[in-house]
Amino acid sequence: MAVVYFGGAPTSRISPRLRLSSLVAGLDEGRKEVFHSLAELGRELGFSIYLVGGSVRDALIGTQVLDLDFSVVGDGVAIGKRFAEQSEGKLTVYQQFGTATVVTPGCRVDLVTARREEYPTAGQLPQVTPGSIDDDLKRRDFTINAMAVRVWPEGGDFLDPLGGFNDLEAGVIRVLHGRSFVDDPTRMFRAVRYEQRLGFRIDDETQSLLSDAVSRGLMDSVSGDRWLHEVERILDEAEPGLVLLRAAELGLMSGLHPSLAKDGDIRALVDCGEVPQDPDEWLAGLFSPLTSAEGEELIQRLRLSGPRATLARDTIDLRNIEETAGELAERPSELYRILRPFAPQAIAARMKLTGDLSVRRALSRYLNELRFVRSSLTGDDLLEMGVPQGPLVGEILTQLRDARMDGRLLSREDERALARCLLAHSQEGATK
Ligand code: CTP
Repeated sequence: MAVVYFGGAPTSRISPRLRLSSLVAGLDEGRKEVFHSLAELGRELGFSIYLVGGSVRDALIGTQVLDLDFSVVGDGVAIGKRFAEQSEGKLTVYQQFGTATVVTPGCRVDLVTARREEYPTAGQLPQVTPGSIDDDLKRRDFTINAMAVRVWPEGGDFLDPLGGFNDLEAGVIRVLHGRSFVDDPTRMFRAVRYEQRLGFRIDDETQSLLSDAVSRGLMDSVSGDRWLHEVERILDEAEPGLVLLRAAELGLMSGLHPSLAKDGDIRALVDCGEVPQDPDEWLAGLFSPLTSAEGEELIQRLRLSGPRATLARDTIDLRNIEETAGELAERPSELYRILRPFAPQAIAARMKLTGDLSVRRALSRYLNELRFVRSSLTGDDLLEMGVPQGPLVGEILTQLRDARMDGRLLSREDERALARCLLAHSQEGATK
């Protein structure tokens, strides 16, 4: 099917607004060096190289360009390999897509082979064939990400065939053609992410394409790990809460899983006056209002595993026992014992979310104080005092710590006295 592009004339190019020299002048020495090396390699191997995508967008906006994205008309992997050798950077190659990433001490450099993409099945990864720089810009997500600046040969040309610069000036997120979200539904989250990060707005036609894709159930066609990747990228934004709320407003969260239709806890975290700094607290906020069954379904949908799956389950389980925590204010060692199994980010999120003041105080006390309490005597001290090597050492240390938490021991001498007493007690027990 022929793709109709929304943007400007396909040949509109070379604007005086952005010259490579002024772009490079704004970079630190390490990044300037990357440009020089790539221009050299382009000349040597005979490939045209362009700075593309987010790097050009951010340079035009005037925000710091951290990662550098290049498109190579020729062989991006060959350039990547040579550049990694020269820069002694860490090279990762995705041969199937003709891409290479080189991480140097100062920056990350992504090199793609300029390509044409075809999506035979909605939501699946595309079939890729080498192409021109125009092809490479046309396969992208939004006009503001479809601009390029030529690095070699004759550095400086600015390519903007799809009207990205106008949209950047107008603050608009616009797809390149009507099938964009059908081809790749993950772009819907990307649209919201850029909109909220840059303070832009999704253009009306793009928004109706997005609504259409959601109501047609296209989000179901994408695998859980690809959605997880998008969620993780949202959590890494400066203001994940705003992105998640807007995604919910547009129906994306319920498209991910019906239980995410209610955005109560994300709204509460945004409004709580103590906005989470740790991305995992936002993840906890997503799981916090769910039932255990809903939580398990969402864990499956996103293929969460390891510490993140634990965090999700902890957040839900914690909500069910936190009332008990509130009642334990007078028994800190007990409070410690019931909260210790839970991930600190789950506790931090629930602390901000609970409406019960005594629960909030208890969770805060655990997070800020109790979990750091240790006895001042160490295992070695106990061995010196004659405690035999073995489980008794740990048991006595636990009792010392508990006593310290509960305010029953104040000095090191108090601890010694209790340790002696516990040792004698255990020896008596052994001889009986
Ligand atoms: N891209 C795309 N469709 C996607 C993912 C990426 O068209 N689903 C294109 C965009 O042109 C994007 C480029 O590939 O600019 C690089 O992808 P990524 O690094 O994810 O984008 P950035 O814009 O660099 O992202 P960020 O600013 O969030 O780092």
